[in-house]
Order: sequence, then structure tokens, then C-alpha cells
Amino acid sequence: MVKICCIGAGYVGGPTMAVIALKCPSVEVVVVDISVNRIAAWNSDQLPIYEPGLDDAVKQCRGKNLLFSTDIEKHVSEADIVFVSVNTPTKTRGLGAGKASDLTYWESAARMIAEVSKSDKIVVEKSTVPVRTAEAIEKILTHNSKGINYQILSNPEFLAEGTAMQDLFNPDRVLIGGRETPEGRKAVQALKDVYAHWVPEDRILTTDLWSAELSKLAANAFLAQRISSINAISALCEATGANVSEVAYAVGKDSRVGPKFLNASVGFGGSSFQKDILNLVYISECNGLSAVANYWYQVIQMNDYQKNRFVNRVVASMFNTVSGKKIAVLGFAFKKDTGDTRETPAVDVCKGLLRDKATISIYDPQVTEDQIQRDLATNKFYWDRPVHLQPMSPTAMKQVSIAWDAYEAAKGAHGVCILTEWDEFKELDYRRIYNDMQKPAFVFDGRNVVDPEKLRAIGFIVYAIGKPLDSWLKNMPAVA
Ligand code: NAD
Ligand code: UGA
Repeated sequence: MVKICCIGAGYVGGPTMAVIALKCPSVEVVVVDISVNRIAAWNSDQLPIYEPGLDDAVKQCRGKNLLFSTDIEKHVSEADIVFVSVNTPTKTRGLGAGKASDLTYWESAARMIAEVSKSDKIVVEKSTVPVRTAEAIEKILTHNSKGINYQILSNPEFLAEGTAMQDLFNPDRVLIGGRETPEGRKAVQALKDVYAHWVPEDRILTTDLWSAELSKLAANAFLAQRISSINAISALCEATGANVSEVAYAVGKDSRVGPKFLNASVGFGGSSFQKDILNLVYISECNGLSAVANYWYQVIQMNDYQKNRFVNRVVASMFNTVSGKKIAVLGFAFKKDTGDTRETPAVDVCKGLLRDKATISIYDPQVTEDQIQRDLATNKFYWDRPVHLQPMSPTAMKQVSIAWDAYEAAKGAHGVCILTEWDEFKELDYRRIYNDMQKPAFVFDGRNVVDPEKLRAIGFIVYAIGKPLDSWLKNMPAVA
């Protein structure tokens, strides 16, 4: 029986291993983590992450061929294949701070593997890492090898949160990079055999190590670039009276462009896009490629511009001040169908409004009050640490309250900001919301979920990203 151990029971480690266990009954899968609470949650009825379809998959194989454990050393030493799916955050201090990837957690996992291993192992990079990380890991392992043979593979993960299970069950591709030696090829084949239980052979791509590592960074950069491109166009739409949804549709109809990932928004969030592009920028700079670095950095700058632009619209349209005014924030997660708030645009928007002394009432169907308060108290880049290293009980900000539903959040508010595209925000009774708000009542739709015309008919002043502005907003221009 092949034994797999995955270090890191997070958004990637948990769902990925659940699917491997489900699809490969003959493989024993153990997911380990340094966070005792996270492992306890994986073993409970309340899984530590919300992901549609995940509960079902975990319940089907947990206790059979899927285990969650804190006994890291035991399970690593017994495994044939060790996946490493730990945090690789942006460095916050020292060389490369603000751009380079912090490999502290990866390196400590690699050193632990070297220390506890008693048999040959395939070590799989599942985390997103800088190009040539496999070489560094190889050095750590072989310099401490005690005669054990290690093969390092790069097997980056392409799942998106909210659709993780369908992405894993039916991936566009699985990418495996390995050394082009007989041992390397054998290791690649062993991992291929695992995926071949459910992924068609033509979707399992094999490359050299460095191409696999770079493909992951490039894939995220391309995806984020599309969003920044349509967001740049959204600003131009507002200035000219064009409609960004129409433009995106027309552009996406070209089969060379394609229709996906062209939704203008308040900005992209999530744990990866910004981190991975910064990493790409840093690697380009280290290789003396400043033109390449500047090119990709623009994607981040456009995203920051979009978030600032949104805040400026809110403040400018309310007579240039939100001081003491209640603003309802609907949605705090970085996208729908997840409770994840890492690098969510909602944090930047809320911080911008708080700087202008607004009072904020936040409602999100999946994000807890503690998480929101923690996010608003956390400095940039510090959120991507293992949970137990994050501040435990931040002082709650008194200008921020958490509401049970959208109606409570909006009661008595001057404005409503929609920051996550939860389906339920499309179905709200906006007439009821309007009646309970201060007048003039504003809706700022950062996700284009509402029909601006219907809301205007109720009486709202509506701002929707990239949509023609109503006369109120035209007369209250915001600094771009
Ligand atoms: P996460 O924070 O949810 O999970 C990482 C886990 O690793 C944490 O539970 C942490 O406690 C644990 N950990 C850290 N150091 C450890 C150690 N030395 N030993 C044991 N456990 C340790 O992060 P994630 O979202 O799962 O991301 C993991 C990696 O996968 C990152 O490199 C990320 O860029 C990449 N990735 C993430 C996604 C995504 O959708 N979240 C998708 C593709 C790739
Ligand atoms: C992204 C990639 O899509 C995955 O392929 C990748 O594996 C993952 O990053 C990773 O490396 O972590 P994820 O961040 O989970 O997945 O979610 P996305 O669906 O990509 O959305 C990212 C952000 O972009 C969200 O804030 C979303 O609202 C925003 N977005 C997305 C837009 O603003 N417009 C769009 O058209 C699409």
C-alpha cells in the first residue's frame, strides 16, 4: 500500500488529500499540521474551512484511508510520498521584504523530513514556491541524508477556492515537474500513477522542475492580469459612459481571448495573486530583468488603484465625508463560497473608510466576527502565517460592528457597499433596505451583483463598477 503524508492541513492540503483518498482507496493518506486546533477541526463535524462538497468527501474516507494528525514525525517517516503544502507568504522583513517569498515554513518542513526519514522518499512541492526552490530543498535533504535517497517533484496546485472540489475532481491539468534522470522519471511516474486513478492521461503534464515551478507563478500572473486589464477598462467605461459588462462580453467573444475571468470588480483578493506576482517581480529583479519586473508590478498597482478608486467614489459621493456615517459592508470574504479573507479587498476598503472616520457594520454569511476584527487589526502580509502565530484576540475596533444579516447591517446606514458577490445579495429586498436607510441612500456595488436601474427606481443613488454613472455621481467626481 502506497503511503502518502501531506504536511500542511490548509486550504490546499485538506481538500487535495481528501480527493486523493477518495479516488485512491488503495492509498493511505495522512494530513499533518503543527496547528493542533486545525487538526482537531479536521477531525470534527465543523471542518476548519468552508468549501462546497468538502464535508461529504472528508466524511466518506476519514477514519478509513484518510487521517488527520499532529504526529508529524511518525507519519512523515512512514510515508513513501511526502507532499509539502505549507504557507509561503511574502517576506515582511529583511532581504526582499514586501516581495520575496518567505520559505521559513518550507525549510523547517524539509529539515524535519531529513531528520525523521529512515527510508527513501519522494518529496512533492505542493506549495507555490519561487523557481529553483526544488534545488534548495534538494540541498537541505541531501546534505542531511544519512544515505537516504530523495527525489523532489514540483506538483503545483491550480484549484480555486469556492470551487476547489470540482477543480480537483476535474482538473484542466495536473502538472508534475521532475529531474530528467532515471530516478527522477521513476518518481514522476509514481506520482502520475496516483493521479491516473481519476485524471485522464492527456491532462497529466510532465516537465522539468523549473518549468513546473515557473508555470504556477505565470498562471496566477496571467489570471490576475486579466482582472487588472478589465478593471482598467472599467475606469474608462465610467469616464466615457460605456458599460464594462458589454465590453467584456464583446472582447471575450473572441475565441482567442475567451469569456472567463473578465468580471470587473473592486479588485482581486485571495492568498495568492498578489503574493505570487510579487514573487515573480522579485525573481525578475534578481535576474536583472527590471522591464519584466515593472511589467508585472503594474498588475498589482492597477489592483490597488481599483480599491482606492472605490473608496474615493464612496467618500466623494457622500459630500466628501463619511465621518460618523454608518456604512453597511455586505460581504467580507475575498470571493463567494468561501470564508477565506486573506488579502480580501474588503480589508482595504474598510480601512479606507475608517481612515475617513466612518462607522462600519459588516455582514458576511461565512466570516466570523473574530476573523473580521483580526483582519482589520493585522498589518499587510502578516495574515499569511500559520494560524497559531497570528495575534489571538485583537482589540475590537469600536467603529466596526458585525451584523447577523444584510438588513441589520443596512439599518440606519447612509450607504451600502457590496464587496463579495454572494448570491444572496442578488435576492435581497432592496425596497425594505431603502426604507430603513438614511436619505439620500447609496449603494456602491463593487461586484456588479445588483441591477442598477431597479435600485434607482426604488430611489437609491447607485454606483456600480464600470457602469454608466448616474447624474449624482457625475456631479461628485472622485479623485481617481
Ligand atoms: P494554509 O495557511 O491554509 O495552510 C498551510 C498550513 O501549513 C497551515 O495549517 C499551517 O499551520 C501549516 N504549516 C506551516 N508550517 C508547517 C510545518 N513546518 N509543519 C506542519 N505544518 C505546517 O495555506 P494554503 O492556502 O493551503 O496554501 C498553501 C500553499 O499552497 C501556499 O504556497 C499557497 O500559495 C499554495 N496554493 C494555495 C491555493 C489556495 O487556493 N489557497 C491554491 C493553490 C496553491
Ligand atoms: C486563484 C487561481 O484561480 C487558482 O487557479 C490558483 O490555484 C489559486 O489562485 C492559488 O494559487 O491560490 P483563488 O484565489 O482561490 O484562485 O480564486 P479566484 O477565483 O482566482 O479569484 C481570485 C480573486 O479574483 C477573487 O477576489 C475574485 O473575486 C477576483 N476575480 C476573479 C475578479 O475580480 N474577476 C474575475 O473575473 C475573476
